[in-house]
Amino acid sequence: MSNGLARKKNIEDMIAASSSGKGLKRELGAFDLTMLGIGAIIGTGIFVLTGTGALTAGPGLMLSFVIAGLACLFAALAYAEFASTVPVSGSVYTYTYATLGEFLAFIIGWDLILEYLLAVSAVSVGWSGYFQSFLSGIGIDLPTALTAAPGSVEGATTFFNLPAFIIIMAITLLISLGVKESKRVNNIMVILKVLVVILFIAVACFYVKPSNWTPFAPFGFSGIFQAAALVFFAFIGFDAVASAAEETKNPKKNLPRGIMASLFVCTILYVIVTAIMTGVVPFMKFEGAIDHPISLVLQMSGQNWVAGIIDVGAVLGMTTVMLVMLYGQTRVMFSMSRDGLMPAKLSKVHPKYKTPFFGTWFFGTVAALVGALIPLDELAKLVNIGTLAAFILISIAVLVLRKTRPDMPRGFRCPAVPLVPILAILFCGFLISQLGSQTFIRFLIWLAIGVVIYFAYSRRNSKLNEK
Ligand code: ALA
Repeated sequence: MSNGLARKKNIEDMIAASSSGKGLKRELGAFDLTMLGIGAIIGTGIFVLTGTGALTAGPGLMLSFVIAGLACLFAALAYAEFASTVPVSGSVYTYTYATLGEFLAFIIGWDLILEYLLAVSAVSVGWSGYFQSFLSGIGIDLPTALTAAPGSVEGATTFFNLPAFIIIMAITLLISLGVKESKRVNNIMVILKVLVVILFIAVACFYVKPSNWTPFAPFGFSGIFQAAALVFFAFIGFDAVASAAEETKNPKKNLPRGIMASLFVCTILYVIVTAIMTGVVPFMKFEGAIDHPISLVLQMSGQNWVAGIIDVGAVLGMTTVMLVMLYGQTRVMFSMSRDGLMPAKLSKVHPKYKTPFFGTWFFGTVAALVGALIPLDELAKLVNIGTLAAFILISIAVLVLRKTRPDMPRGFRCPAVPLVPILAILFCGFLISQLGSQTFIRFLIWLAIGVVIYFAYSRRNSKLNEK
């Protein structure tokens, strides 16, 4: 089997390698995990995509968030079992390599580029919208041509989203110098983000006109489902909780608590926010001006000051999401490159900063260019399909491993197997079907490129060949 597509890394070797140096300390409790999750979750999804979401579903957008949240709950439970089965740190790429073999591991790693790298780009576009809203609040307006991707604003000529480009380059600089998000900074950001969302709710609720909620579903269930597939983006990042299995105290209890608490808090906030935004402003009004819908709702209500505070909070909150995602991208690529599946340059560590310097700048620059040149909705759909596909693969892997390796110790066991993984597969598959054929075709092309690279390069250069 050693030369087949299913050749695997030896789990015992991996455990030995990870425990020879610095084994990870188990220090995270349910509360820390919840903060970690909320930190990675709340971002462009709620602050920006709700504009398109409201246009697609009408006030029924509240229901779209519940559907997307349920898909995430099932997927997260399966993900957590998978992440805790192979007791070494690393991403789902590493776990797949040890359990399902090299080819699928490569495909997952390649697929995760869509999730991590493009999410950085997508969030930068949302960041840019709020940053510009903040700037214009203090009387500074950028030249229109430099405010958005080409063709993304109706009736205006735009070439390049300069703020989106600059923020990613700044984050790239931080990560390449070895700045990691600390628990303290994360906690402060999370509290700030949640406060900003609560501020929105507290102020805007006085402007709600219940008549705006009817009709509740102007485009029927089809609008609600399509919006669910788009706003799934708002939940991405909870996999950060599942990946922290190794660093969690008593993962059996704390992991599901952390996952459920962060998903629960976010879903509740999301549903209230969308209820209020569609209650204050008739949903059709989000047409055309949707790059900062949350603060726009307040501006329309004459609350410019509060809108300004929300702009600042959203800008800070989205910055941490990009930091986590770009860090995740460099980490997955680092592992793939170290295993020989990607060029060695991507895992070359800088002698002074101790970071994969070249790899960080390479992926940072690509993410920045993509964010500056491609409209947000297109990016978000690709991120979603990449993430949903990864969740489906992982849920299948959980079922397969329960059969083939029932004895393997599992830090966390998904409840109600096979029901929960099957529900995850069905929900994620359904959401994929709602993303439209264009997104699906782009996704297949991406996978096809990956398969070509695997057979032309990775398979030959894999470190497993040396054994
Ligand atoms: N869930 C993250 C966001 O909405 C990716 O920005």
